[in-house]
Amino acid sequence: MNVVIRPDEADVTRYAYEFLRDRMNRKRYRVLGLPTGSTPLRLYRAVIDGFKRGEVDFADVHTFNLDEYLGLPPDHPQSYRRFMETNLFGQINIKPENINFLSGLPRDIEEECERYERAIRELGGIKLQILGIGRDGHIGFNEPTSSLASRTRDKTLTRETIEDNRRFFERDEEVPRWALTMGVGTIMEAREVLLLATGRAKADAVAAMIEGPVTTMCTASALQMHPRVTVVIDEAAAAKLNHDDYYRWMADNDARMVGYLEERRRRFLTGDSAQPEAAQKQ
Ligand code: PGA
Repeated sequence: MNVVIRPDEADVTRYAYEFLRDRMNRKRYRVLGLPTGSTPLRLYRAVIDGFKRGEVDFADVHTFNLDEYLGLPPDHPQSYRRFMETNLFGQINIKPENINFLSGLPRDIEEECERYERAIRELGGIKLQILGIGRDGHIGFNEPTSSLASRTRDKTLTRETIEDNRRFFERDEEVPRWALTMGVGTIMEAREVLLLATGRAKADAVAAMIEGPVTTMCTASALQMHPRVTVVIDEAAAAKLNHDDYYRWMADNDARMVGYLEERRRRFLTGDSAQPEAAQKQ
């Protein structure tokens, strides 16, 4: 895992936006997996601003959202579909037919989930999957004890998740107890993953994901088995990490690696035996 620790939320957002912009423009990623929640909300604001500046173009981009509450119609004020329309899709140039969502009111749950998996496959898979993390370590709505091989399916939410989502609904009984979500196995097939977390409330989940064992008790820990994961967090979310010194050290040194290697190669090829500064220190 590439662990990036930034001072605050604003820096996490800036890093995440630049990461996404780079992948869209330089690597030509055209199929994105998107999350909802308060953490990605800041990223979406940055994306809208970037779109207005002409830095990102969604004309031929396809999106797949991670999850949707079961029982809510698409235009329900708290549906994830509505969240995405309001906070991103309605303000960029994405084509409505390129937006993929799980239905909150499917006729047949199994068929709906299979349709979603098929749609992802038919577009050649998700290139960049953006994720948040729940306090219980969930990604998507893959709550603790979800199989790490799970595919898109229905899931009963934990009381903790329902409580976390309570703030968006007027009455307790309105908070959905079930959702359809991409599985951990579905998420693991994305070519690249960018996970964002900010705030102290996420510190335990972040530590479990990065430094804990791979376990269904923290489904985000499955990302340890993914070859291309970047986790970008603020200082508060990094507070429970044991090896944060190493992640910072790694970030400093990674930035110097290319220059160092070029210098070594140049000296080797020109027969100049003097050692560059970084090597002398070893
Ligand atoms: P949040 O949700 O960004 O609103 O904290 C994250 C999640 O549950 O995935």
